[in-house]
Amino acid sequence: MSYIRLEDVTRRFGAITAVDRLNLSISRGECFSLLGPSGCGKTTTLRMLAGFEDLDEGEIHVGDRLLSSKKSGYYLPPEKRDFGMVFQAFAVWPHLSVYENVAFPLRVRKTPAAELDKRVREALSHTNLTDAAKASPADLSGGGKQRVALARALAINPDVMLLDEPLSSLDPHLREEMRFEIKDLQRRFGFSIIYVTHDQSEAMALSDRVLVMRLGVAQQVDTPVNVYTRPANKFVFSFIGLSNFLDVEGDGTNFKTSRGGLPLPCAPPPELANGPSCLACRPSEVEFTGEEGLTGVVARKSFLGESIDYRISIGEQSLRVQKGRRSTGPEPGETCRLRFIRPLWYPAD
Ligand SMILES: Nc1ncnc2c1ncn2[C@@H]1O[C@H](COP(=O)(O)OP(=O)(O)O)[C@@H](O)[C@H]1O
Ligand SMILES: [Mg+2]
Repeated sequence: MSYIRLEDVTRRFGAITAVDRLNLSISRGECFSLLGPSGCGKTTTLRMLAGFEDLDEGEIHVGDRLLSSKKSGYYLPPEKRDFGMVFQAFAVWPHLSVYENVAFPLRVRKTPAAELDKRVREALSHTNLTDAAKASPADLSGGGKQRVALARALAINPDVMLLDEPLSSLDPHLREEMRFEIKDLQRRFGFSIIYVTHDQSEAMALSDRVLVMRLGVAQQVDTPVNVYTRPANKFVFSFIGLSNFLDVEGDGTNFKTSRGGLPLPCAPPPELANGPSCLACRPSEVEFTGEEGLTGVVARKSFLGESIDYRISIGEQSLRVQKGRRSTGPEPGETCRLRFIRPLWYPAD
């Protein structure tokens, strides 16, 4: 059931529409990611949820509470929204101890001393910081500082956590470890997560559902599996995972590659069969066949460790093909034949 609702949420900065009529509905306990390239409006969306940013249009509700409404000019201030928040920069205060950092939001809320102490100790224990309570965050590693930020967000026992690229300043190994810690905390406390990232693998690994954004506009809201296997458009296809696009021309019965006129071994759906269209496929979903299939010439072959990466010229276009490292395949300069496993089709640009 929908818990967090954004209705036609819009935010403009001068001529730029940072977020353009965004509609979202997120369930209680769901982990939902906002994914897209830098500048697509992820942080602005999160800041509007948090109450740091006004709306130019639309409304935000959580449960039966109205948080922001342009129409009625209503804005609940951030501290009354009771969201946990963790941002990209290590926003911890170096002049306060770890304990006091975590206690801060509770002191702001005038939580009684005994209750405050209990909550801080619990948050520290859940983030493995009990032994660091008296330390200064400045003496902790990057991962440690980000744990302090997490503990501080947990201390108020929020039912929504807003996380804006919380792991992007950590090294890759630690980033993966912290993903599991965040999921673990979510399982224990049951809060909803809205997670901002430009890293598609992070979004895929963490989320129940993902919103892919481009230039402030929602492109697709779906499960990680569906955004990968059934991208709504070419942008989503190319943003999630490795992609190949091949321009194709058709007359209803015959289909050839553009700029080379090579016959295709497959056909677009009827609505795209008359005229130009675009075939999309992952490099791992192209197969070398013996005699049949699309004709190409191997322009390059590179050994990547786990896989072998081919660049195949298809007339004046090119395709990337990836095969397991033990596979056998053609050599540079050789002609090859190709077949597509589950190609997808999009209208031509
Ligand atoms: N305070 C601001 N003033 C002017 N432009 C802004 C401001 N905040 C964000 N923007 C612009 O809005 C767009 C979306 O930014 P942002 O939400 O930060 O994107 P993301 O978090 O996806 O990288 C960008 O074009 C950015 O330059
Ligand atoms: Mg951002």
